[in-house]
Amino acid sequence: MREAVIAGNWKAYTTSDVCRALCGGLRERLDSIDRVEKVVCPPFVYLMLARDALAGSSVRLGAQDVHWEDDVAATGEIGPKMLRELVEYVIIGHSERRHQFGETDEMVSRKVKAALAAGLRPIMCVGEKLEEREAGKTEDVLVRQTRRGLEGAEIPDGFIIAYEPVWAIGTGRAATGEIAEETIAVVRREVASLLGADKAETVRILYGGSVKPENIAEFVSREGIDGALVGGASLKVDAFAGIVRETAQAKTRP
Ligand code: PGA
Repeated sequence: MREAVIAGNWKAYTTSDVCRALCGGLRERLDSIDRVEKVVCPPFVYLMLARDALAGSSVRLGAQDVHWEDDVAATGEIGPKMLRELVEYVIIGHSERRHQFGETDEMVSRKVKAALAAGLRPIMCVGEKLEEREAGKTEDVLVRQTRRGLEGAEIPDGFIIAYEPVWAIGTGRAATGEIAEETIAVVRREVASLLGADKAETVRILYGGSVKPENIAEFVSREGIDGALVGGASLKVDAFAGIVRETAQAKTRP
């Protein structure tokens, strides 16, 4: 049985006051909900603050990116070992990194390996752009991103991949449950072909893109969808708590 994961990606939003208030509200609302791994990923500059605000809570902490090397002349970057002192999880290869900052499959692969080596839990993102879906290239894109991201890495059981169609991110236009389920099956098949069916069964694959409390059940009630990566709705205590609660309910339904 794969444990569900709901991860919040705060992107470059919040202030230190908002971060403190969000952490306080979330620990109050989420601590009593078990069976769902709850993760928040604030901006780097607030990680220390968030770590203190979440100390002793079941809400875990992640970062939004990581460099692939430690102790290196790489201005502005954060190495995996220093990050591991503060957080457990790290988002890698988010579509905003890939498409706004030119991150390649090769860079994603190096980051995944370095994060694992440092003891971090990557949340590796994959997803097609609208023009790729319209051109019938969704499967090719996902197979390539999945394979290149994982190849050569020692992938632990429970590894997390987030399928986020780029056209659904921040647009209010979520994928349908059907599309998410079908596409996630493509990703799981590729993981199986690379790492074997047993390993693929342990890998958690999340859906991401305009997730909110009102639509989360549509995704997580499906067997192959193990949770969600949430952007906008993770910035509001009520919305994020609602998403976690709905997920816990959907995953405990017989
Ligand atoms: P969204 O973002 O929930 O605001 O669409 C998702 C993401 O970028 O991870």
